Amino acid sequence: MNEEVLYFPKEDIVKATDRFQTPFFLYEEKKLRSNCQIFRDSFKKYFPDFWPLYAIKANNNPEILKIISSEGFGGDCSSESEAWICEKLGIETMYTGNYTTKEEFEFVKNKCLILNLDDLSMLGAVAELGMPETLSFRINPGVGKGFNKDNVFAGPDAKYGIPFEKAYEAYQKARDLGVKHFGIHMMTGTNVPLEESNYFANIVEKLFDIIADIKEKSGIEIEFMNIGGGFGVPYRPEEKSLDMDFVAKSIREVFDKKCKELNLKEPRLLAEPGRWISANAGWLIGKVHIIKDSYKKFVGVDFSSNDMPRPAIYGAYHHVSVIKTKETIEKETVSIVGRICENSDQLARDRELPKLDIGDIVVIHNCGGHAYTMGHNYNGRLRRAEYLIEENGNFRKIRRAETIEDLYKTCEI
Ligand SMILES: Cc1ncc(COP(=O)(O)O)c(C=O)c1O
Repeated sequence: MNEEVLYFPKEDIVKATDRFQTPFFLYEEKKLRSNCQIFRDSFKKYFPDFWPLYAIKANNNPEILKIISSEGFGGDCSSESEAWICEKLGIETMYTGNYTTKEEFEFVKNKCLILNLDDLSMLGAVAELGMPETLSFRINPGVGKGFNKDNVFAGPDAKYGIPFEKAYEAYQKARDLGVKHFGIHMMTGTNVPLEESNYFANIVEKLFDIIADIKEKSGIEIEFMNIGGGFGVPYRPEEKSLDMDFVAKSIREVFDKKCKELNLKEPRLLAEPGRWISANAGWLIGKVHIIKDSYKKFVGVDFSSNDMPRPAIYGAYHHVSVIKTKETIEKETVSIVGRICENSDQLARDRELPKLDIGDIVVIHNCGGHAYTMGHNYNGRLRRAEYLIEENGNFRKIRRAETIEDLYKTCEI
């Protein structure tokens, strides 16, 4: 059983539920910092000028971003608002959009240090706004992996990146338009299965062949390589954690081998993890308020799939812990459901848990990344508050809960 998955700050959660109205998200600064340090230091050991970026889409709370940035991370932005918040917080960023509009380029251009284009067809819009000196392209290296088919971001079915065979054309065109420094980027899948720890080294190897092809056909030297995010985290207790030292070391070996073999100058390494940094540092916490004996047993909690849509969107598994008001050794198989009018609103299906009673606390694990940010307002449900357990043990509200007025503030009523 993987302790990384099972861990939750039980005493703090009990204190927090006594003090704050449930449901809410709770994050732990200590865990967040430790994840940042492990990731950063694993790579810095083998790549002293490594630049880690945090994928803002995983968690955009300003206080979370301040912590991550204080650990030496820049930001990976994919929208106007992500670029906006990073600029406000003084975080240096790389922008990776896809199918970006000219208006969006205009907005992010002076906010993000590096633009990373998803296709050659975007060069026109960027050139009209003034070509930057440094530019990167997202390449589709032809193969990708993810924990399900929609999480595979490369290969023939993926909407992202430039097909690798045509990459050199994009670089040539950009050089003709005045670009002087070039990077290469890939993001081939998210939550890449953990047994694939050699995956990153293999894909970097492929990227070096693409870099060599670009150099051969255009004479352009790639100065930095961003290997994206996608570093998988265990969601199930029986899954193992990714050994980050092994991942970084195996990439180092590929750098040494390929730079020598292909006679390339070593590019600076960048990466942009999201969930690996913050997923296991956050929990969604609520209480049981309805227990229904139907064809199955359904336990209604005060949060719903709009608060954390991963199980509803792609059947993702999230570990569930319960804190009972009265201890019991009895167990039963139940589904944890919310109040959304969709049958996919089942945060855990047919799960064996300690027998639940009204008022018991339900904790959904791995909710620090791609959780709040994926949430929505369907059924007019409101977004929840977010709290942080600071390193000194104090609680801090880092986002208040939405009100009905917030929901309608863009309308004239
Ligand atoms: C371009 C890009 N970078 C980074 C990430 C972060 O992925 P993960 O949270 O799996 O590390 C994503 C996720 O979708 C992405 O699309």
